[in-house]
Amino acid sequence: MGSQARISAGKAIVLGIESSCDETAVALVTSERVVLAERIASQEAEHAPYGGVVPEIAARAHAERLAPMIDAVLEDAGIGLEAVDAIAATAGPGLIGGVMVGLVSAKALAMASDTPLLAINHLEGHALSPRLADEALAFPYLLLLVSGGHCQILLVEGVGEYRRLATTIDDALGEAFDKTAKIMGLGYPGGPAVERLASKGDAVAVPLPRPLKGSREPHFSFAGLKSAVLRAYESGEHADADLAASFQRAAIDCLVDRLDHALERISTPPALVAAGGVAANLSVRRALEALAERRGMRFCAPPLKLCTDNAAMIAWAGCERLAKSGELFEGDPLDFRARPRWPLDPEAEAVRGAGVKA
Ligand code: KG4
Ligand code: ZN
Repeated sequence: MGSQARISAGKAIVLGIESSCDETAVALVTSERVVLAERIASQEAEHAPYGGVVPEIAARAHAERLAPMIDAVLEDAGIGLEAVDAIAATAGPGLIGGVMVGLVSAKALAMASDTPLLAINHLEGHALSPRLADEALAFPYLLLLVSGGHCQILLVEGVGEYRRLATTIDDALGEAFDKTAKIMGLGYPGGPAVERLASKGDAVAVPLPRPLKGSREPHFSFAGLKSAVLRAYESGEHADADLAASFQRAAIDCLVDRLDHALERISTPPALVAAGGVAANLSVRRALEALAERRGMRFCAPPLKLCTDNAAMIAWAGCERLAKSGELFEGDPLDFRARPRWPLDPEAEAVRGAGVKA
């Protein structure tokens, strides 16, 4: 059962824990949008030799780091656990071992301090993160959620009210960035490395496909683009920087085309919002800003460190849920199970394609 309500939803301090992939992160955030303290430990060095995240290594690293990081964040903020109103942890989707480490830690803290547990959908964390940074961002907004595991267009109508308009039928865009980096030997994580190299290249030098561009179906596809990058690289005919720039341009063309397609089918919401790791890419941000301007929408993307995985967004999603449910909030049950898959919009139609992400 959940813990008894004892929160004044207006002013709450939420401890957030994120451990769904390769970042161990803890943050304390208030319902008034103040990040009291945050720490993040990246596992890049552990996974780099393998060119991608190894789930077992990730889970072990989370287990080793999390408890001391929670202590450190409380100390940084100069508060004790008794001052915390709720414990929020990512409960999925993600690599299940890591998610379980974070969720079990949160349950133990919640139980020990008789504080409500908030089992947060990692995607909801990304989806609401722009509102932590920008008080003026009201519902509804059109969200492009682009990360290592997901590539979706969502209409965010309120807290807990998400309508998925498009998703990827194969790879996520972050995955395509990472694979492009791997092909070119740029290391892991690939997104920032590809972006750096692309800034020195010619984006029209290498002809690459724009999968599903102009298609009547709403979705994304990046597998064909990735294969085309591999073929172009193996041909040895192109400079790496030109290939990186051409890949990035092709990916951005797809994003803009698919967003235009979505906007043709709904009444235009006031804001276009980008979130998730790939939203840290400055060329992506510029292209979305231009699209928003053309469509008469406001463009909003959180600061770079809120785009990639972090715990402030998980704590903030907790604050949003508290504010929505009011003072009678009971918390999620302590037997809430970690979910490897957890779609934000359970009503969304399944899409064709094998490697469909949540
Ligand atoms: O949101 P995130 O930190 O983790 C997931 O939930 O997946 O996203 C990580 C992804 C990785 O694929 C990474 O390569 C990509 O975001 N990424 C970028 C950039 N920074 C991170 N992709 C393109 N350009 C960037 N600057
Ligand atoms: Zn993420």
